[in-house]
Amino acid sequence: MPQQPLSVAVIGAGMAGRSHAAGYRSVNTVFGEGLPPVRLAAIADADAELARDAARRYGFEQALTSWEQVVDDPSIDAISIVVGNALHRPIAEAAIAAGKHVLCEKPLAGSIEDARAMVAAEQGADVVTAVGYTYRRSPAIAAVRDHVRGGELGELSLFDGRYWCDYACDPRIPLSWRYTGGPGSGALADIGAHVIDVAQFLCGPIVAVSGAALSTQVAKRPLPLGAVVGHTAAPVSSETGEVENEDTAVFTARFESGLTGSFSVSRTAFGMPNGLAFDVYGLGGRAGFDWHRPAEYLFDDAQPESRTRGARQVIVGPQTPYFAGGYPMQAPGVGGGNAEMFVYQCRAFLDQITGGPDPLPPNATFADALHTMELIQAVVRSAQSGGAAVPVPTA
Ligand SMILES: NC(=O)c1ccc[n+]([C@@H]2O[C@H](COP(=O)([O-])OP(=O)(O)OC[C@H]3O[C@@H](n4cnc5c(N)ncnc54)[C@H](O)[C@@H]3O)[C@@H](O)[C@H]2O)c1
Repeated sequence: MPQQPLSVAVIGAGMAGRSHAAGYRSVNTVFGEGLPPVRLAAIADADAELARDAARRYGFEQALTSWEQVVDDPSIDAISIVVGNALHRPIAEAAIAAGKHVLCEKPLAGSIEDARAMVAAEQGADVVTAVGYTYRRSPAIAAVRDHVRGGELGELSLFDGRYWCDYACDPRIPLSWRYTGGPGSGALADIGAHVIDVAQFLCGPIVAVSGAALSTQVAKRPLPLGAVVGHTAAPVSSETGEVENEDTAVFTARFESGLTGSFSVSRTAFGMPNGLAFDVYGLGGRAGFDWHRPAEYLFDDAQPESRTRGARQVIVGPQTPYFAGGYPMQAPGVGGGNAEMFVYQCRAFLDQITGGPDPLPPNATFADALHTMELIQAVVRSAQSGGAAVPVPTA
């Protein structure tokens, strides 16, 4: 008997909204069978032209101009929320109340109060709620997690994580939603949230932060004249507005296990288009990853004899998570990058909804993402108190 289709919609047709749209479009073509057919029902954006263009490119039936139209459509089963962070809460609450499954982009919300309210909504909900911590879907990062969690590095001694980007170096980049909100809502929320999530995905929860410092390199930016997509330039007015949040942040962290970590995050790091990277060291091994080389990681342990000891370059292949069935070309060394991660993320979300056989690991929960927001707030408090140690509340 043919299965009922599952109807999905994407709210936001900007930089990441298109990645969700592409993810849903491909979700049934990877990993073989197991999902019902996916109906690409609607894509909504306040900018009608962006919505129309994305619907046409990715094959969605309708282009809508408000998220309310999506939430009010009883034929839609599941939605992705891919708009500026301050809008996540009202959309998520309305969608959950309407009985729709929700995949919300990171960071969970625009404020800690909104994030807590979303966790309360998740707790009472009879639907799947998930957060787009997309780097968990990197085959290389998932492989490093297996090494760490499997004890192959021995007792951990140091985690160093950084996310260095250059999208805010140009002072002509307009004052979009990314530059408004208080301390913590800038580079920390936009890119720091990802490397914080990766650190905890690998090494477990962080319970305290200290030594934080935040800084802003470009204090004013021109106001946009129309829609701004992602980090890109757009027509601007001669008027400027204040940048309200940090371009750069550093801090140290203590994990629940006792492990010590250091973090640095910047959106004004010249020459770094998307520099998420980390090194994790233990007494018996180390691993390192750099997103600019997304289909490989470094691994080192005491297995080789001393004559040939040193870090090995491990190329993503059949031995790494997500590879089998996860690429159209099933050949080691064929690469892979950002687009695949969004397919795997959508696939995991739909697996969570349908409860199909052989599911991918589930997505982060709203509660996981609240913890990351609490951590960012602790970093801000540490910076405001001269680098003092600040505990991070755990659930
Ligand atoms: N997981 C990832 O790797 C990743 C990458 C980038 C962004 N993100 C997250 O995705 C979200 C969106 O980021 P982005 O870079 O795509 O932003 P963006 O500014 O490029 O796009 C946001 C879109 O939302 C639209 N919008 C604004 N108000 C709306 C409304 N009321 N109804 C419908 N649409 C509305 C805007 O017109 C815009 O097109 C953010 O939460 C961000 O943190 C995640």
